[in-house]
Order: sequence, then C-alpha cells, then structure tokens
Amino acid sequence: MTFDVTAPMVNDLDAYWMPFTANRQFKGAPRLLVSARGMHYTSRDGRRILDGTAGLWCVNAGHGRPEITEAIRAMAGHLDYAPPFQMGHPLAFDLAARLVSIMPDGLDHVFFSNSGSEAVETALKIALAYHAVRGEAGRTRLIGRERAYHGVNFGGLSVGGMVNNRRLFGTLLGGVDHLPHTHLPAENAFTRGQPAHGAHLADDLERLVALHGAETIAAVIVEPMAGSAGVLPPPRGYLERLREITTRHGILLIFDEVITAFGRLGHASAAERFGVTPDIMTTAKALTNAAVPMGATLVSGAIHDAFMRGPEHVVELFHGYTYSAHPLACAAAVATQEVYKADGLFTRARTLEDPWADAIHGLRDLPHVIDLRTLGLVAAVELAPRPEAPGERGFEVFRACYDRGVLTRVTGDTIALSPPLIIGDGHIDQLVSTLADVLRAIP
Ligand SMILES: Cc1ncc(COP(=O)(O)O)c(C=O)c1O
Repeated sequence: MTFDVTAPMVNDLDAYWMPFTANRQFKGAPRLLVSARGMHYTSRDGRRILDGTAGLWCVNAGHGRPEITEAIRAMAGHLDYAPPFQMGHPLAFDLAARLVSIMPDGLDHVFFSNSGSEAVETALKIALAYHAVRGEAGRTRLIGRERAYHGVNFGGLSVGGMVNNRRLFGTLLGGVDHLPHTHLPAENAFTRGQPAHGAHLADDLERLVALHGAETIAAVIVEPMAGSAGVLPPPRGYLERLREITTRHGILLIFDEVITAFGRLGHASAAERFGVTPDIMTTAKALTNAAVPMGATLVSGAIHDAFMRGPEHVVELFHGYTYSAHPLACAAAVATQEVYKADGLFTRARTLEDPWADAIHGLRDLPHVIDLRTLGLVAAVELAPRPEAPGERGFEVFRACYDRGVLTRVTGDTIALSPPLIIGDGHIDQLVSTLADVLRAIP
C-alpha cells in the first residue's frame, strides 16, 4: 500500500480530535505536514519548513534517516511482534545494554514503555514499589516541582506543575507536594547556560521533609532542565544540592530526561552534563529519533536488585505494557544510537552551543523580548504578554514564523527552539532572522 499524501483534502477534518491543539482554530486554517527530510518538513501546500524544534524535541538526528528507516523496515519483515511478558527478543536486551553503556555509571537496568508519559509512570511506580519491597512501605509521598511537565497520565500530572494540564482532572494522586520552580527573571534574565541564582530553592525540600517526615517520602522528580514549561535551565548548584538532600534522607531522585537525553545538551544525558546521577532516569523522544514511539526508564542496580529476591518463579514487578520493547521500536532505537555515534551528534551539539547562544542572544534588543535563555541546543525567547491576553502574542509569532517557513514551538508567550542536532550555520541564521523579522512586525 502506498499513501497519496498530496491527494486533494477530504473535506472533513472533523473526526480527528487533536491533542494539545486549538481544534476549531486549526481546522479553520490547517497546518499540514506531508513529508520530512533532514532539517525540513514539506507542508501540504508544497512549502519547505525549517524544523526549529526537532518535531517535538525528538528528531535529534534530523528527519528521514535512511539507516533508521531501513532498520524499521527490516524488522517489520522479520519479527513484527513478540510478547514482552515471560518472553523476549534479542534486540530488546541488546538495546538495554547499549543504553546502560552510554548513561552514567550506576544506572544499570532499563524498563521499556512507549512514551515519555509511560516512562514517568513507570519511574514513579518503581520508586513506590522499591520502598515497599525493602520494608519501608510508609514512603508513599511523591515530590514534584511547579512548572514541571511529566506527561499526561495521572502520576505525571500529579507531580507536574502546569495548571492547565491539571485543573480539569480532579484530585489526582494524593500525597503529592511540589518544590518551587526555578524561574527567577529578576536575578537571572538573559543568562547563557546555567543561571547563577537559585541553588537555594533546592533547600525547600528540607522544608517538605520537616513538614511530612522523610520516612513518608518516596521520591523527588525533576526535569534537570525544565522544557515544556518554557525552558528553565537549572541554577548552578541546584541539582547537586537536590542530590545531596535526597541521599541524606533516603529519598530517591528521579530525573525526567524525556527531552534532555540523547544529545540535546551536548551529552548523552543532562545527568552527565551536570555531573549529577539520579537513582532513576526517564527517557523517550530522541531514543528512537521519534521514528517509532518508545520510552525507557533506567534504574540503579540497588533499586533493581531490591526486587530480585524471593522465589525465582514469581513475577518481581507487576507492571509493563503490551508494547514494551516492541521489535520495531528496538530496531529504530538501536539504529538511532548508531547514527548518534557514527555522526558524533552529541559532540556536535556541544560544539554548536556557543554559536547558537550568540545567535539567540542577538535578539535581545528586539521588540517584546523580556528574556532569553540558552543551554545546549535549546533556547527560549520570552516575550512580554499582551495585557489581558496572555499567550496571544506568542501564538501569533509561532503562526507568522510558520507562514515564513520556520517551525517554532510556543508555550504561553515563550518561543522554545530545539532544532535537530544536525543544524548548520545557515539554518541558525534563517531561524533567528525569521524570528527577528516577525518580532519587528507583530504588535
Ligand atoms: C520532561 C517530559 N516528560 C514527559 C513527557 C511526556 O512525553 P510523551 O508526550 O511522549 O508522553 C514530555 C513531553 O514533552 C516531557 O517533556
């Protein structure tokens, strides 16, 4: 079967209820992408759109990599599916070993799922179960952070901190508390890399320990660099302090690296970049270059081993998904990891960090710009909101950039950029000059 993606529109966009989308507005003027290659999408009206966001922070090796496509195709013809419960297939073990080898020492075991949200649910469940199997079943509290995004399932929503994602969905999980976010514009505006101020915000964990008792707290989960809520790099010393406090109180530290893993910050992980190793790490997105959905949750040897007691015939963890370690996802992930290595893409991101930051910080004096934040190959361009209409200006910028052939991402009035790691100087120029033109043009 072939797909005719250029056929005239079926005049019905109605049936598809689109996620995180203003459906009625979109369907009035749809933005449809029909193919992708390298740094570009092609839109249905035949325009080349420069991908300034690696899809949704996930296509780190650029689009349509033949090595990845071929691996998926070959596996589809070879092994379409294998049940992951009480059965396995070789590539799942191969992939797990590869991931362990590139992630920081101590993260020794991998549990597979199908998305970032599921990787997070898996992490939270493992954290709770770990304490229970060690006889500390009283450790049931989970601590998240304001402005965090940990996906859309109930655990991730509960520890997440974005109000629009939470407010319609009831009471969520009980026994959850939140650290303060680390956005300090008065002190840290226009910072390149990690901001100087804010390490003390980690000390709020001591307040929560004093309030609830450490013996009731299972885990703290943070994005080492908050992404979806507007790109908030960690203040210098903040992650180190969180690590120190969690260790001292026997609380597990979870890094949600769904965005940051696999090169985004110039290293295999943010943990490696910042020199802070969590007990559990979630990954997804760039794991497979987004070609097949997949999530992976890495855990320490100590956590894994705590479950490997008792009779050997008994299932150790009652958790998993029909599509955990799906053969097509494993094939895509192994091929993707090979591409990252062969092309040196993590190193490339590190090399590009300075020119990227130079280009982005060149926007400082443009209209509406109130802050610029850069880290690795990530940038946030924060705009002043219009009085009475927060988010409107940001969305207009997004649309105007798209009309001029550049895909950006908007959250509130912050434009977030996270291009594929194969980006070249000419693309950076195009991205930044388009944004500059749009900022000059819109009210
Ligand atoms: C840090 C983080 N965690 C979890 C998720 C959820 O991932 P998914 O959309 O694959 O469920 C995201 C998605 O952007 C994310 O940024």
